[in-house]
Amino acid sequence: MQKLIVGNLKMNLLTIAERDRYLESFKKELQGKNVSDCEIVLCPPAIHLESFAGKIEKNDFSVGAQNIFWEDRGSFTGEISAPMVKNIGAEYLIVGHSERRKNFNETNEVVKAKINSALNAGLFPICCVGETLQDRQAGKTTDVIISQIHEGLADVPVSRITSVVIAYEPVWAVGSDSVPTSDEIMEVRILIKKIFADTFGQAVAEKMKILYGGSVKATTAKQLCIDPGMDGALVGRESLIPMELIKIAEIINNSK
Ligand code: 13P
Repeated sequence: MQKLIVGNLKMNLLTIAERDRYLESFKKELQGKNVSDCEIVLCPPAIHLESFAGKIEKNDFSVGAQNIFWEDRGSFTGEISAPMVKNIGAEYLIVGHSERRKNFNETNEVVKAKINSALNAGLFPICCVGETLQDRQAGKTTDVIISQIHEGLADVPVSRITSVVIAYEPVWAVGSDSVPTSDEIMEVRILIKKIFADTFGQAVAEKMKILYGGSVKATTAKQLCIDPGMDGALVGRESLIPMELIKIAEIINNSK
């Protein structure tokens, strides 16, 4: 299965100059690197989607949005929709990120509506799931992940389920330096595969891509992504440094 390396650039690249420097540096760093078994997805702020999409050459990278509203059009001041980001060149959509769940009250119901809207527009949703530290300490990791997947993906028909990517991002590992062990990540990976096998059958479960996110760096990619058998990485801070994101992609690419 082709690995997926997703850079979540979050609310960064504040100026046109910064954006252009990022894209130039990304393209320069990519030259001569062996990442042919990976798809790299860059998810910039919505305002930069068009210029990122315009810079794609020879499948160097794909583009994803960080958020959408679930309606396609209408009186929703300030919002952008799935058909809009698809039309401008995005292929992927991050949905249910813990920062959105925490700061913008993105519930599983909201995640469900956004996933359906994304699939209808032809986007691949990257659905983030993961427990908080409190959940983990209370032994609730399994319950949280089961309900985030069951409720968030409740309306996805079996014919479309493999268009959804799951990103396991333990909330306590995002933007911190505490990370789970390879075994802890592998346990969650097995749990997620089992949820899909039980709901949609083994063949579907095998096709589902599961990424790991939370403090992925070149130095932690083996422990966090390769050893637990993940299908790629969702990278925050390190994706702001093109050289580091590409290093992560190379490490994962060459682990096969
Ligand atoms: P960090 O890689 O900065 O921990 O962020 C992870 C993340 O939130 C990716 O979506």
